[in-house]
Amino acid sequence: MKGRLITLEGGEGAGKSTVLTALRERLAARGLDVVVTREPGGTPFSEAARALMLDPAYRGICAESELLLAFAARAQHVRELIVPALAAGRWVLSDRYTDASYAYQGGGRGQPLERIAALEAWAAPVQPDLTLLLDLPVAQGLARAGARGAADRIESEGAEFFERVRSAYRERAAQQPARFRIVDASQPVDVVRTAAIAHIDAFLDAAGVGA
Ligand code: TMP
Repeated sequence: MKGRLITLEGGEGAGKSTVLTALRERLAARGLDVVVTREPGGTPFSEAARALMLDPAYRGICAESELLLAFAARAQHVRELIVPALAAGRWVLSDRYTDASYAYQGGGRGQPLERIAALEAWAAPVQPDLTLLLDLPVAQGLARAGARGAADRIESEGAEFFERVRSAYRERAAQQPARFRIVDASQPVDVVRTAAIAHIDAFLDAAGVGA
């Protein structure tokens, strides 16, 4: 049986890492062969593109370069890791995917959504089966993320940028309710983790995956 692609999205300080670990453990506990990956990243070339994309030395690069770099990393990730894993029956859990380009480069940088859709259709046509969006107020997320120390190039953006990112994520979730589950990430981390696991369990039950 072909595997599934599950993606995790959210703004800064949403608790993605904690939830990612919990989801990986849950999928494995339910007998699935899980591959955890991330974007930008997941292959040697894509990780190099990530380093370039987040390097504060390139503050001020144009939005077009940023968008193309995200898709250059993704095109390789899809072909080298995601498609072969799914074909082998593995379940791929990705920390961010194409929705992040709609949110950050579309919402945040103002790149036209049709342009992103065209890139997606050409370079990364694999769609997630399920996407969990960890949503929380920008100020709360930035306060949490700020406690982590040195900011990368994108983390250094201001609150208005992240407000646009959040709105774009929420808009996409509203447009595609069958694929998205929104988790209120303003709650304590234990509650967020439990809510995320409940969504995964419901998805697995619906997919007929054994307990
Ligand atoms: P993260 O690992 O903390 O989520 O960092 C990845 C950063 O890259 C985050 O700021 C979001 C950004 N990003 C984009 O701007 N566009 C994309 O397509 C992806 C996947 C990530």
